[in-house]
Amino acid sequence: MQTVRQIVTTGTGGIEVMKVQEKPDPQPRAGEVLIRVRAAGLNFADILSRQGLYPDSPPKPCVMGYEVSGVIEAVGQDVNSSFVGKSVAAMTRFGGQSELVAVKANHVFDKPDKLTFEQAAAIPVNYLTAYGLLVVMGSLHAGESVLIHNAGGGVGLAAIDLGKKIGAVTYGTASPSKHKFLAERGLDHAIDYRGRDWLPELQKLTNGRGVDLIIDPLGGAHWKKSYAALRHTGRLGMFGVSTASANGLAGKFKIIKALLQMPRFQPLTLMNKNRGVFGLNLGHMWHEPEKIALWMRDILRGVEEGWVRPYVDQAFPFEEIGKAHRYLEDRKNIGKVVLVP
Ligand SMILES: NC(=O)c1ccc[n+]([C@@H]2O[C@H](COP(=O)([O-])OP(=O)(O)OC[C@H]3O[C@@H](n4cnc5c(N)ncnc54)[C@H](OP(=O)(O)O)[C@@H]3O)[C@@H](O)[C@H]2O)c1
Repeated sequence: MQTVRQIVTTGTGGIEVMKVQEKPDPQPRAGEVLIRVRAAGLNFADILSRQGLYPDSPPKPCVMGYEVSGVIEAVGQDVNSSFVGKSVAAMTRFGGQSELVAVKANHVFDKPDKLTFEQAAAIPVNYLTAYGLLVVMGSLHAGESVLIHNAGGGVGLAAIDLGKKIGAVTYGTASPSKHKFLAERGLDHAIDYRGRDWLPELQKLTNGRGVDLIIDPLGGAHWKKSYAALRHTGRLGMFGVSTASANGLAGKFKIIKALLQMPRFQPLTLMNKNRGVFGLNLGHMWHEPEKIALWMRDILRGVEEGWVRPYVDQAFPFEEIGKAHRYLEDRKNIGKVVLVP
């Protein structure tokens, strides 16, 4: 029997639960392709899963991984055999952090020639999430303003690309060490949210008016503050609870705190304040491949035109998965971290 190396989250805990293990080769089923993985994305959800704080996590032991790039090695029944040998990027419903992964053919996209495999693996989760938030649900228009929380993360950098392309004024919160890089990427106003309260800073920068769109993956009390920072016809997009990230009991305590601090939105207040609120979870879009394909078509056009610029901060070999987790948890990353077999 052939085996593949996979990154396995063997249980809930610290980085020591992350192991590389040999498993039997996956086989493509009908409608699937088998991808020889060249790079797999690491996402914040993987950290939360390891910490036992991610409700969508598969039961452990599990192989995480929402996205890969690589080369199609085989196809299942009903899939055109001419796909074999193609370089692709794909959304994977877990299992991507593996040398080989079987994926539904309609979750696969051509890898743009101008991108490396590592850059291509940085596209699906970050850019589709940012696209859903800014373009589809946030309806951001030229001349409007957007506050991108966690602007130095993978989704944050993708949101800056999209915000600039749309012609919006961009504000972003990030650790201060990332501000210079973010300015070089085109962020108009960087705000330190670690050392001080970001809300008065934003109010100062906007002459007390607030902004048109806020995308907020921090959660808890931040969602309340973000809602308060909207101007009329402003929209708040909520898509994560990264403030809860911590190991052991501290994580459980933080998630309960975040739940208790969440805002409760009233329809009449929304109406009278002319505000909109929405949520986005890309991991709950598997049944909408047509929508995802449309979003991706625009994103890939952006790659060709040069305004979609996936940025890979670090590529860690599978064996260094613990280091890679620690790198994200220590907030050291700017943009994407990928894993290479
Ligand atoms: N709903 C969805 O579909 C969806 C999809 C993708 C991502 N997300 C969510 O979006 C958020 C960002 O994801 P990402 O992939 O862009 O992030 P990422 O690239 O993994 O970046 C991690 C960054 O998050 C910031 N951060 C904020 N709170 C943190 C904490 N408690 N511990 C460690 N780092 C913290 C740090 O940067 P700074 O300190 O510089 O801010 C850190 O460098 C996460 O909450 C993730 O779960 C949601």
